[in-house]
Amino acid sequence: MIRVLSCTQPTGNAHLGNYLGAWRNWVKGQGQDTERDNFFGIVDLHALTVTESPGVVGAATVDLAAWYFAVGLDPELSTVFVQSHVPEHSQLAWLMECTLSYGELSRMTQFKDKSAKREGHFISAGLFTYPALMAADILLYDANEVPVGDDQRQHVEITRDAAIRFNHRFGDTLVLPEAVFPPAGARVMDLQDPTSKMSKSSSSDAGIVNLADPPEAIMKKFKRAVTDSDTGPDAVRYDVAAKPGVSSLLDILAAATDSTAERVAGEYTRYGDLKTATGEAIVALLEPVQQRYRELIDDRGELARLLAVGGAKARQVAGTTLRRAYDAIGLLPA
Ligand code: TRP
Repeated sequence: MIRVLSCTQPTGNAHLGNYLGAWRNWVKGQGQDTERDNFFGIVDLHALTVTESPGVVGAATVDLAAWYFAVGLDPELSTVFVQSHVPEHSQLAWLMECTLSYGELSRMTQFKDKSAKREGHFISAGLFTYPALMAADILLYDANEVPVGDDQRQHVEITRDAAIRFNHRFGDTLVLPEAVFPPAGARVMDLQDPTSKMSKSSSSDAGIVNLADPPEAIMKKFKRAVTDSDTGPDAVRYDVAAKPGVSSLLDILAAATDSTAERVAGEYTRYGDLKTATGEAIVALLEPVQQRYRELIDDRGELARLLAVGGAKARQVAGTTLRRAYDAIGLLPA
């Protein structure tokens, strides 16, 4: 049995990068073979590293849960849970904080970037120890595979380092995970800045396609997408280095129509036509997802029920692993 685990932070709006870059691949993976046991978390405690007002994270958690199920995560096939519903995350995180060193955490590029951006503002200790909590997320479930974006590579590496060190100190206890990356083209770029990944921290909303955007807004964003000033019969071609904007549109259109970027490139000569076709393909792709989202977000009882099922399964697995870790250390049993 291969255990698969990945998570999303409930911060900001769900966007096309989440869907095409991650969730759609998770959905494709579930049920495809019965050898895979999938766990997908909503990591609300991670969001606290940058949260300072009440109510925000809880509301974002409900919203993200609705999107998870709307895109097709199936509670029968996957365990979908909220991190704070499983207290073992915080408990194993402490063990991981004592396993990782100050030096290692100081070298994490995400900490360096995020703390630099927050200069002069409050930088929580949690922002610094975040990798220990993420290591706990992964190691609690004995995850073999962790599907993540390239930006999370270093976090999965430090998780492995933590597991290796823990096992060396206390005996073979924790399973070493491996990061798995989405297929080429699954990385969705910002429509206004096609050399940067589409992300919640992007500077302008115009570059981000929110999953909840109405069709007109989606069309407008694609029509205004940044391309380049090439003209001529072969202006529409796939060349990520020389033509990042056009290539990104081709990637998105290919992903939405189950084709390849090279193949769809052959069907267009004008940027305007490519933008319209890509917008229309995404509108069509999102239509049923938005429909299910609207149903679910209006049915809080059903969402709570689904999350309770996942939470119970997650606690069972997590409880066993935490016990194993406590026993390996030789903490006095209660
Ligand atoms: N750090 C991840 C991100 O920002 C989210 C995350 C937290 C995660 N815990 C995880 C991803 C465990 C995979 C596995 O995207």
